[in-house]
Amino acid sequence: MEYKCLICRGEVKPFISFGRMPIANAFLSPDQYKNEHFFMLETGFCTGCSMVQLTQLVDPDLLFHADYAYFSSISVRMAEHFKQWADAARATYASSNDNFVVEIGSNDGIMLQHFAKAGVKHLGIEPSANVAEAARKKGINTRVCFFNEKTAKEIVVEYGQADLVTGANVICHIPDLHALASGLEALLKPKGVFQFQEPYLGDIVTKVSYDQIYDEHVYYFCLQSLQKFFNGHGMEIIDLEPQDVHGGSMRYVVARKGARPVQPSVKEWWAREEALGLSKFSTYQQLAKKIEASRDQLLALLKQMKSKGLRVAGYGATSKSTTVTNYCGITPDLVEFISDTTPGKQGKFSPGVHIPVVPYEKFKTAKPDRALLFAWNHGHEIVANERAYVQGGGRFIVYVPAVKEVEGV
Ligand code: SAH
Ligand code: TMP
Ligand code: ZN
Repeated sequence: MEYKCLICRGEVKPFISFGRMPIANAFLSPDQYKNEHFFMLETGFCTGCSMVQLTQLVDPDLLFHADYAYFSSISVRMAEHFKQWADAARATYASSNDNFVVEIGSNDGIMLQHFAKAGVKHLGIEPSANVAEAARKKGINTRVCFFNEKTAKEIVVEYGQADLVTGANVICHIPDLHALASGLEALLKPKGVFQFQEPYLGDIVTKVSYDQIYDEHVYYFCLQSLQKFFNGHGMEIIDLEPQDVHGGSMRYVVARKGARPVQPSVKEWWAREEALGLSKFSTYQQLAKKIEASRDQLLALLKQMKSKGLRVAGYGATSKSTTVTNYCGITPDLVEFISDTTPGKQGKFSPGVHIPVVPYEKFKTAKPDRALLFAWNHGHEIVANERAYVQGGGRFIVYVPAVKEVEGV
């Protein structure tokens, strides 16, 4: 099967297949099992523009809807992170209340609330109606729709052009990036900037964090592939900065070509990406081998736990855990339950392998011998909260960057 790049129509060479996969965030009840949606999760490298991407996509309407499971504000650390970002962005790119700020994928308003509170003219674009409603309740101006060229033009007619457009963990969700770029070309003022932050491909490669790969993440970005893409739309990346969230992210600043000075960070990261080989297919062939080894080690460890009579529970019913459980074959006989603080996930079952998702209180009372840390990206926050669990003899199992049993991260 030959795959064409979603961006340049060049050839996409697959390097890893995770097999039949359910929708990562579709936690479900038993009466929904018979209608569960599956697709082939496979990742490839474009030989034309070097963009790493999924070879098969799930219809966005099946992913983002009025029953979307992910509420950004569930994590205290992320709330703090977005406050810092909003403060810095206000100081740098939107210091006047007359400035207009648009956020793509504003979810429950975790970032925009800081602009709203300060009285800055703002708009959130959020297709998942339930999380958008949570934002509106906080007084955040939110429109329920997907961001694309058409919606961008409507925004310009209604509000004028924007000084700052932001997005976090959403741009890699948008299959038609050309429509995103055309939308930005229409929406941004001549000196306006687009600041966005997504899981970083360099971290996936170095940490073997293959669980970042799931249906919502259509693309796996790095500077080299993105710079080519934006250049094709009269824009350029003028700055970038790594962020220690979601397992390793990168924040990029994009402006119209020549509109703003290009910072030294661009040259520095370009050289780092050259050294890592992010634009070479062989890098991803090597990554695939490491992913397979990680799967084999995790499954062996869980089987060993079972044979010793140790009880294992999952910590955090993350979308990432759907890739891990289904790819490794982690079924309820190996992991009894997954505890999660999100009310909408509790009482349901995990996609594909159908492990029960229970409220956090159950984790406290059931005292499993091992906690498989699916929410490893929130590891510091979780371990700090779980000192008593570890003091009582509990241990965490982690698999990024390597499979091991630990007391802390
Ligand atoms: N920015 C938040 C939410 C990330 S989850 C955070 O970082 O925590 C991704 C969000 O993007 C979801 O709320 C989803 O509904 C939204 N989304 C998906 N496709 C989108 C699109 N084309 N335009 C705008 N939002 C989109
Ligand atoms: P994420 O990895 O996509 O951010 O999802 C994190 C999930 O983990 C979310 O469903 C909430 C859950 N979670 C807990 O159950 N306990 C915690 O302490 C944290 C930080 C997250
Ligand atoms: Zn391409």
